[in-house]
Amino acid sequence: MSMTDILMTKPMLPSIADALDAHFTLHRLWEAKDPDAYLREIGPRIRGLATGASHGGTGAALLDRLPNMEIIATYGVGYDNVDVTDAARRGIVVTNTPGVLNDEVADLTLGLLIATLRQIPQADRYLREGRWPAAPFPLSPTLRGRRIGIVGLGRIGKAIAKRLEGFGVDIAYHGRSRQHDVAYPYYPTLIGLAEASDVLIAITPGGAGTKHLIDAAVMKALGPDGVLINVARGSVVDEQALIEALRNGTILAAGLDVFEDEPRVPQELIELDNAVLLPHIASASVHTRKAMGQLLVDNLIAWFDGKGPLSPVAETPWRPAGET
Ligand code: NAP
Ligand code: 8YV
Repeated sequence: MSMTDILMTKPMLPSIADALDAHFTLHRLWEAKDPDAYLREIGPRIRGLATGASHGGTGAALLDRLPNMEIIATYGVGYDNVDVTDAARRGIVVTNTPGVLNDEVADLTLGLLIATLRQIPQADRYLREGRWPAAPFPLSPTLRGRRIGIVGLGRIGKAIAKRLEGFGVDIAYHGRSRQHDVAYPYYPTLIGLAEASDVLIAITPGGAGTKHLIDAAVMKALGPDGVLINVARGSVVDEQALIEALRNGTILAAGLDVFEDEPRVPQELIELDNAVLLPHIASASVHTRKAMGQLLVDNLIAWFDGKGPLSPVAETPWRPAGET
């Protein structure tokens, strides 16, 4: 019996490719000498696609060449790189990898918050530059007494909040709706949350719905002692407004794991000493990336076993045939 054909457009973890090789006929598009001719040949046979945030999306130009596609399995919980409306229109199910990365991303967020406030990278640079013998490193800002506002209290936002409780700080949040399983104060407006906070932590999805949610007005409301941590998507923050706010003291500092045009980071940000910058690593441990890869693979296996997807995104829900 012939195996189901799956397409991968760019390299992914060896554990993902190995597992897919064991269950399917995996086509590695980037290895084709002439990808266009290769797609012409195999396109009609492809029934599933394994993809990630940095794979250049799953635009109509690609999907038009894969007329028998049934499922797009993405590597990551955020799926702003996939046009899910188009996928839904084509009857394609999209899956992501929720849950398995909550703790890793929350751990990194706390690390980035402390690093930004206590200036850990700056202190490391200070020591390496041989400046300690001349004078101690200047005193830093603190987490003590700060009120933390979480923008997007979902799965990861709640894991961040749980950790923050251990740090003895006040926690509040903003989202489009109140979360009924927590007692933290809810702010229906982001400006309201920013005014009531000394730190804002962004952990929402990206995409059109949250584009530049954190803009100049929000940073002004956060104030000159305020700190912005962004582990959501670069698009959630108006990066030019942030650069201005960091330069002119509208806010105190920022810790960023994500950027508007990754992997390009504006030189103005790189030159700012009150910004701690990470290359989108919040989930990037061997342990967690393996778990994300396994969930991607398990989604494809479950689908082609006829059991339905394990973690379909909300825009492409799935019901077994016959169920309404
Ligand atoms: P989730 O459980 O769906 O939570 C998302 C939260 O964002 C929800 O509480 C939602 O609440 C809120 N939200 C959505 N749209 C909003 C809007 N327009 N304004 C305000 N709040 C809004 O997702 P998750 O698993 O926690 O993941 C969240 C996001 O984190 C991902 O989508 C991804 O962008 C990012 N992420 C980044 C990394 C990284 O490496 N840096 C790693 C993992 C995830 P309401 O529906 O009530 O608004
Ligand atoms: C990954 C992420 O960096 O899950 C997400 O939404 O941003 C990260 O975990 C990314 O998806 C890997 O391609």
